Amino acid sequence: MKHVKKAVFPVAGLGTRFLPATKASPKEMLPLIDKPLVQYVVEEAMASGIEQVLFVTGRGKHTLEDHFDVAFELEALLSGKGKDTELCQVREISNMVRIFYVRQKQALGLGHAILCAKDFVGDEPFAVLLGDDIIDGETPCLSQLMNVYNKYGSTVLGLEHVPMENISSYGCVSGEEISDSVFKVTNLVEKPKKEDAPSDLAIIGRYILTPDIFPILAKQSPGKGGEIQLTDAILELSKTDAVYGCKFEGIRHDCGDKLGFLKATVDIALKREEFGKDFEKYLRERLT
Ligand code: UTP
Repeated sequence: MKHVKKAVFPVAGLGTRFLPATKASPKEMLPLIDKPLVQYVVEEAMASGIEQVLFVTGRGKHTLEDHFDVAFELEALLSGKGKDTELCQVREISNMVRIFYVRQKQALGLGHAILCAKDFVGDEPFAVLLGDDIIDGETPCLSQLMNVYNKYGSTVLGLEHVPMENISSYGCVSGEEISDSVFKVTNLVEKPKKEDAPSDLAIIGRYILTPDIFPILAKQSPGKGGEIQLTDAILELSKTDAVYGCKFEGIRHDCGDKLGFLKATVDIALKREEFGKDFEKYLRERLT
């Protein structure tokens, strides 16, 4: 069985929940303290053993490409000023991983964005990571999904229980828990109404897929919101192939949402050695 070495980052969405911040700059480049969201997720992919990353980009995403590129002038300036720590940080980013780009010409939906990755993927299993789900855990979330893939050799979805009043924001699954935190998925619905949701298990922004998804995506009609939905294609796939879900361990922050982004900022700031304690003191003072 082939191991998962390639990851696809669909970043061509319009980020409407974060307007006006996302009018001219990509949602994935919003900084959590001092690093853009997408860098946290690339770091998770690398920590899970990913060797090649494909960004599915769209119009207005050039700052993301620049972020992972060599910044010759900046490096020369930092070097001239003897700012070695900053120089190392900037250099590390451009050396992180082998990065490729493909353009999704129209934002026709997540499923369509994944279809744009077909040539890059070839005949290997691959990971999909959504750049606005920041997951903090002892074991990287993608590694946890890979463990399930390595056991069953089939599609794996990252899952989380969410409050029922929020389920209509997610793809939702139902299934049988076949071992601790691993589900055999039997049904999937994209953004169901609370009363139609088969469970409170939501698909979060981590997937391991196989190339079997591509012929289905190529024929997929638009679903919820008029978009080509990945969830609909996985439902179709589940009729012939086993689909698994992995309830990951860790804390997920939905940074595509303003409140989620704020919570992530606070959580990460509290953990920072340089100012975490001072920030905590500040918060306590503000809250009393
Ligand atoms: P979202 O549903 O979060 O959409 O997409 P969005 O456009 O990013 O944000 P909102 O909801 O309007 O605020 C889930 C992921 O799929 C990507 C997005 O970039 C995001 O990572 N996506 C979505 C694409 O790459 N192409 C698309 O056509 C749609």
